[in-house]
Amino acid sequence: MRYLIAFLVCLVAIASVDAIRIQNNSGFHRARDFEGEFRQWMTKHEKSYADDSEYYLRLSHYIKNLRTVADYNKKHAGMAKFAPNKFSDLSIEEFRAGYLNYVPNKLIKDRSTKQNFDYPANIPVSLDWRQKGFVTPVKNQEQCGSCWAFSAGEQIETAYIMAGNAAQNVSEQQIVDCDPYDGGCGGGDPMTAYQYVQSAGGITTNTDYPYTATDGTCYAQNTPKFTQIASYGYASNKGNETELKQAIAARGPLSICVDAETWMNYQSGVLNSNCPDELDHCVQIVGYDVEQSTNTPYYIVRNSWGTDWGMEGYILVGEGQNLCGITDEVTYVEVEAVPTF
Ligand SMILES: *[C@@H]1O[C@H](CO)[C@@H](O)[C@H](O)[C@H]1NC(C)=O
Ligand SMILES: *[C@@H]1O[C@H](CO)[C@@H](O)[C@H](O)[C@H]1NC(C)=O
Ligand SMILES: *[C@@H]1O[C@H](CO)[C@@H](O)[C@H](O)[C@H]1NC(C)=O
Repeated sequence: MRYLIAFLVCLVAIASVDAIRIQNNSGFHRARDFEGEFRQWMTKHEKSYADDSEYYLRLSHYIKNLRTVADYNKKHAGMAKFAPNKFSDLSIEEFRAGYLNYVPNKLIKDRSTKQNFDYPANIPVSLDWRQKGFVTPVKNQEQCGSCWAFSAGEQIETAYIMAGNAAQNVSEQQIVDCDPYDGGCGGGDPMTAYQYVQSAGGITTNTDYPYTATDGTCYAQNTPKFTQIASYGYASNKGNETELKQAIAARGPLSICVDAETWMNYQSGVLNSNCPDELDHCVQIVGYDVEQSTNTPYYIVRNSWGTDWGMEGYILVGEGQNLCGITDEVTYVEVEAVPTF
């Protein structure tokens, strides 16, 4: 009986895999044709699955991602490239839950208020703040919806360097565990993360309060703070890319929140179309440049999905269309020049 059930479960799994067919330029092919490729992918990404049903589920997500990759490569032909990566065995729902967790906080009232930013109008044609050493190494938030804490933390690290200090890694985990306004791995908002850091009297180093990628109990009362936020706020108005570029030139790297659903399978090149603006992820913009062969201006954006995602952890986002909502939530931080501890 046991064997019969196992046999039937197996049949169902195989049948459901066979039901998935991939369209390519020369017709359709069956899921089982992808098993060799999938096993290579599993080896490359050191994946193993508990049982056959998990294996077939992951194979079916992998195949759906291949379909998305093919579709996006067609839509973005000649510009951005998409390819299977470490996320390829996740469904889009799993990806959203684990990696897209910007949750705008209701405590922040006036996000859309028109402000008068007085930046110099003459800015360089290209600008990459990494070359000035204002950007710390690419981080990996792992499967915890802490993008907002990373985006805020990266901004604090940048402000700390720009204030004349040697680079330091902030404790994102302190923000994940202790920020009472936001939801830890369940998501949050850089603006209220800044508010928390200020109210906590500053932030600890990553060494003193290491990252665990899970929600934990706050122990920041026992850890030394290395810097404190002096001020923070919006750096440019929604929808105005002229102002965004002026803000990058005048203030350095900036925290932004974007719609990153289409970034899941991104590999390289300028993402220059088909990116909506329902913000779900927060990152850091570190400069802008022009892609020479197609004369396409773009922003240089640092992600927190590790260096094995995108271009060594970065993505290039085209200018001029508010792609991915890139102008919608742009914030800066300044740290106290002489910390008070
Ligand atoms: C497309 O599918 C056909 C049928 O399975 C297969 O023979 C062919 O190799 C596939 N082409 C590509 C480019 O994957
Ligand atoms: C910050 O973290 C990166 C990556 O783990 C590491 O290479 C670097 O040495 C760290 N910097 C400091 C000041 O600890
Ligand atoms: C965009 O921002 C620039 C610089 O602040 C400003 O001069 C311009 O009027 C703004 N454009 C719009 C449409 O608000």
